[in-house]
Amino acid sequence: MDKIRAMITGIQGYVPDYILTNKELEKLVETNDEWIVSRTGIKERRILKGEDQGSSVMGAAAVKGLLEKTGTDPLDIDLIICATVTPDMPFPATGNLIADKVGAKNSYSFDVGAACSGFLFALNMGSQYIQTGTHKKVIVVGADKMSSIVDYTDRTTCILFGDGAGAVLLEPTTEDLGIMDTILRSDGSGAPYLHMKAGGSARPATIDTVMAKEHFAYQEGSTVFKFAVTNMADVSAKVMERNGLKGEDIAWLVPHQANKRIIDATANRMGIGPEKVMMNIEKYGNTTAATIPLCLWDYEKQLKKGDNLVLAAFGGGFTWGAIYLKWAYDPK
Ligand code: UT7
Repeated sequence: MDKIRAMITGIQGYVPDYILTNKELEKLVETNDEWIVSRTGIKERRILKGEDQGSSVMGAAAVKGLLEKTGTDPLDIDLIICATVTPDMPFPATGNLIADKVGAKNSYSFDVGAACSGFLFALNMGSQYIQTGTHKKVIVVGADKMSSIVDYTDRTTCILFGDGAGAVLLEPTTEDLGIMDTILRSDGSGAPYLHMKAGGSARPATIDTVMAKEHFAYQEGSTVFKFAVTNMADVSAKVMERNGLKGEDIAWLVPHQANKRIIDATANRMGIGPEKVMMNIEKYGNTTAATIPLCLWDYEKQLKKGDNLVLAAFGGGFTWGAIYLKWAYDPK
């Protein structure tokens, strides 16, 4: 029997309208546009405004657009996997809320928490369900409202993050297309360098935790930076090596958008020129689980059937990984 692979047959992103510029951040914290652009590559990011608006609002907007664009009946969706570290609430899962909002009544859904590598972890999982032959249409969403856990008095983190969502449709193929190989890694000993101190079962919310600002993302930036550069480049190089790929064989590197300097270092190590690196960090910042699908969405018109793509990420956990895939369709 022919091997079944999962291929991406559609991509859609969603970003909120509100644009938070570096100039605006200069009014909130001691920073400046020149520092932010030269140290991170970020010029602006999107923020989801409004009461009771969580990650599911953005995730549902992306999935709705995806269903329309691909002409897919929501009732035909088997499974929705949502990668997020900013769920609407601890339970139910944000995936459940998205499925309800888009009318995917025959699907089941759940969340995956692997921080900035979340989309890759969820994509790998979705791919496995397709490969078994039991699932025909799986949607993988990355959605994060990072503004809900960012301290806008902390200049070391508030300049980095933004809100957004992206979703892909996975379907089976027996052609030589789709997700070809995956390397995923995690190491919980990295937790002290990037985490949220309170709000979980170890340290539930109290007045004290709120007053101590323990419900915000905490990051030791330069330590995370060093691990990110090494590990993201390592797995990307490894996935290329074990598939016999050289820099010239890769059409696109699709890196997690945390810092332009990390992306440049990864591309360098892979022998890939800047013209083949997807980058939109300047307009969205770090949207955590949404960065990779938002990149694919932005560059969709430039992708051709059979293009070799390497998707790579590093994030809280630590978690990291690389996925090698062959793009499955020409621009429509
Ligand atoms: O996506 C999840 C994974 N996360 C990442 O991959 C992020 C990895 N880390 C980074 O991207 C970088 O470490 C940062 C962008 C967060 C920081 O850049 P850096 O080059 O590592 O700077 P640093 O933390 O070493 O700080 C250098 C200086 C410090 O001042 P002193 O101590 O040298 O006087 C900081 O206080 O820059 C200062 N600084 C700022 N200055 C102006 C830190 N943040 C700012 C700021 N504006 N926003």
